[in-house]
Amino acid sequence: MNDSTIPSLAAWREVGRARPHESAELHVLGQATYTDDIAELAGTLHAALGLSSRPHARIAAIDLEPVLASRGVVAVLSAADIPGLNDCGPIIHDDPILADGLVQYVGQPIFIVVADSHDNARRAARLAKVSYEDLPAILSPQQARAAQSWVLPPMRLARGDAEQAFARAPHLLKGELHVGGQEQFYLEGQIAYAIPGEDRGMHVYCSTQHPSEMQHVVAHALGLHSHHVTVECRRMGGGFGGKESQSALWAAAAAIAAARLRRPVKLRADRDDDMLVTGKRHCFHYLYEIGYDSEGRILAAKVDMVSRAGFSADLSGPVATRAVCHFDNTYYLSDVEIRAACGKTNTQSNTAFRGFGGPQGAIAIEYAIDEIARHLGRDPLDIRRLNFYGRGERNVTPYGQEIVDNVIHELVAELEESSAYRARRAAIADFNRDSPVLKKGLALTPVKFGIAFNVTHLNQAGALVHVYVDGSILVNHGGTEMGQGINTKVMQVVAHELGVDMARVRATATHTGKVANTSATAASTGADLNGKAAQDAARTIRQRLAEFAARQYGGAADEVRFAADTVFVVGLALPFAELVAKAYLARVQLWSDGFYATPGLHWDPKTMSGHPFSYYAYGAAVSEVIVDTLTGEWKLARVDALYDAGRSLNPALDIGQVEGAFIQGMGWLTTEELKWNEAGKLMTHAPSTYKIPSVSDCPEDFRVRLFDNANVEDSIHRSKAVGEPPLLLPFSVFFAIRDAISAVGGHRINPPLNAPATCEEILNAVAAVEAAAATMEQGA
Ligand code: MTE
Ligand code: MOS
Repeated sequence: MNDSTIPSLAAWREVGRARPHESAELHVLGQATYTDDIAELAGTLHAALGLSSRPHARIAAIDLEPVLASRGVVAVLSAADIPGLNDCGPIIHDDPILADGLVQYVGQPIFIVVADSHDNARRAARLAKVSYEDLPAILSPQQARAAQSWVLPPMRLARGDAEQAFARAPHLLKGELHVGGQEQFYLEGQIAYAIPGEDRGMHVYCSTQHPSEMQHVVAHALGLHSHHVTVECRRMGGGFGGKESQSALWAAAAAIAAARLRRPVKLRADRDDDMLVTGKRHCFHYLYEIGYDSEGRILAAKVDMVSRAGFSADLSGPVATRAVCHFDNTYYLSDVEIRAACGKTNTQSNTAFRGFGGPQGAIAIEYAIDEIARHLGRDPLDIRRLNFYGRGERNVTPYGQEIVDNVIHELVAELEESSAYRARRAAIADFNRDSPVLKKGLALTPVKFGIAFNVTHLNQAGALVHVYVDGSILVNHGGTEMGQGINTKVMQVVAHELGVDMARVRATATHTGKVANTSATAASTGADLNGKAAQDAARTIRQRLAEFAARQYGGAADEVRFAADTVFVVGLALPFAELVAKAYLARVQLWSDGFYATPGLHWDPKTMSGHPFSYYAYGAAVSEVIVDTLTGEWKLARVDALYDAGRSLNPALDIGQVEGAFIQGMGWLTTEELKWNEAGKLMTHAPSTYKIPSVSDCPEDFRVRLFDNANVEDSIHRSKAVGEPPLLLPFSVFFAIRDAISAVGGHRINPPLNAPATCEEILNAVAAVEAAAATMEQGA
């Protein structure tokens, strides 16, 4: 028998179908269980954290008596009460769970108060009397640069001879840019629920992207082995990088209290506390120099970036590395020098956020290219295209990886055409000529994003697939569900492999007791890695079933076909469940583990070179805005986005990811502004003062499409990652705003626009352009 004898069999596929999110109905009905929805055990206590009110100070004295005396309080714990290691740092151990004598930012936890209710715990937490001896504080990356205050040694990546290339370059551009940070603003805040078990065991329900790391941190804090601790997460209400390392503080604090009191303890962060305590996207400050020729071709590039790391290292090193590896974006830079440093500041310890430094690296070169175009009086798209990586030549990145999958030329050409870019450019010029106050702007920006963890060993994953006797299937893998749809994709992969209906397959919570030593669900690799691991497990089971069927009914095992919920063997068509039931009676193992390690990766952090990425994902977007130059208000009129998801595993989910990332990135670059006061306190610690995009900020005309393109790498069903790269697509919004402002000065002046381009920032840029234009006219 072959596929073609049964028509439906040849066409049957599960991967590539636009399936709804596996929990979509539960989400909509409010029946999806988040950590705070888990039924509480009798005796459950509630914790809150007491926070520092100083950015940098020694604690001279602390009186916790009023906290302990407050209504409903059961215990107050400080650093001395931690039985093991007082540290929750993911890489470098400079991250105390509770401040021990020294506070390093406003919001740093000093003690844990445990009470009979969440409200009682929070009320009591404010009653501590702390006397501080203030120390000098560093509050911005610029101050960190001046003081050479770093959490890690600065990094440098150089290729060619930038100095010589600058000397030869006909044109020189020098500038400065500041791009703000961003709060993850997951809808479900940080939370952990720790339940002590027998013989020092501890089970922690935690909203986390990294259950294995929570397990390690809790074990270290309690002085236990990893086998004492299990961590479980069914789903998060968003993570966006904010629960990659920074769920650890909450998991550890809940577990420390639970271990001490031998009672279940829940620690649920109030939104203000969440924003005051946890790290965010790193803001970056850049100094750049570009040498270019009269066509706009970049001959030499130099950038010096400093990020706001906050008080500890956390993931700042890897974030800076990714920024360095994404400064090139889609452009070939022959002679280049990239420096990056992580400024140690007395603020929250910044961390992962969708894109993980990639967006911060790439925006600097885009900013410079935008300026080159204006200097030369050319359309920025032409300058971009001129500098794109080539095929077979001009195709090696500054870190030495050869690019073999470049589709940016075709992708941008397709988008330029489908968005009517040129015609709209002309129409906008006409509009602006007759419109003194309202100015329209247009921009097309490209994206290339490297997929894999830079740190090679993290690129591994495991899965466990059970086929039960009734033919139903339970899938467990090391990835975590945060809304992105990883479970749906992994379920599709398993259903596809076993040729069964999706209705047979169910995904369970991520659990350190099921799959061990997992990596964070991060770097957009979740579906890539865990999909492959689950495929491996399902293949093993399918192979066993095929061998059993061949033994039972004749024919060869490799001719048995699994599709459409049926097993086809020598002219017979058996329902899947029937074969499974028979195989069980014949004592065939119906469950299997699976494993995957991405091949071909290597990276040398010392020289910052190697082959860190498995492949690249590409994309581009065109945005059109209209700006009111008297108020700084603006509206996004239309977006066209084209994203390379390879052979998409699930186009519905992938389009959702592109849309979500686009809007989230737009918020970062336009409305989301983090403000610290002179005393180092984050003033924007609630939605009342911190503006994330809402439905009314979404473009009325939003055209998102996937660029069909089989991955040249043997990724899971030739798909490509989609979680983070589309966050760079709204660069087009930022540069469209800059384009509209530039129309005020007849496109002769580069508007000095920093991100976020808030109304205030836009007005300042308009004023600067008007002033420069007036000076030019006087000179003329
Ligand atoms: N989508 C939703 N809905 N919620 C999230 O928290 N996180 C993003 C992205 N998409 C996120 C999301 C981030 S930061 C990453 S790294 C990826 O999803 C992780 O999932 P994946 O690797 O399975 O794509
Ligand atoms: Mo995503 S920032 O890699 O969690």
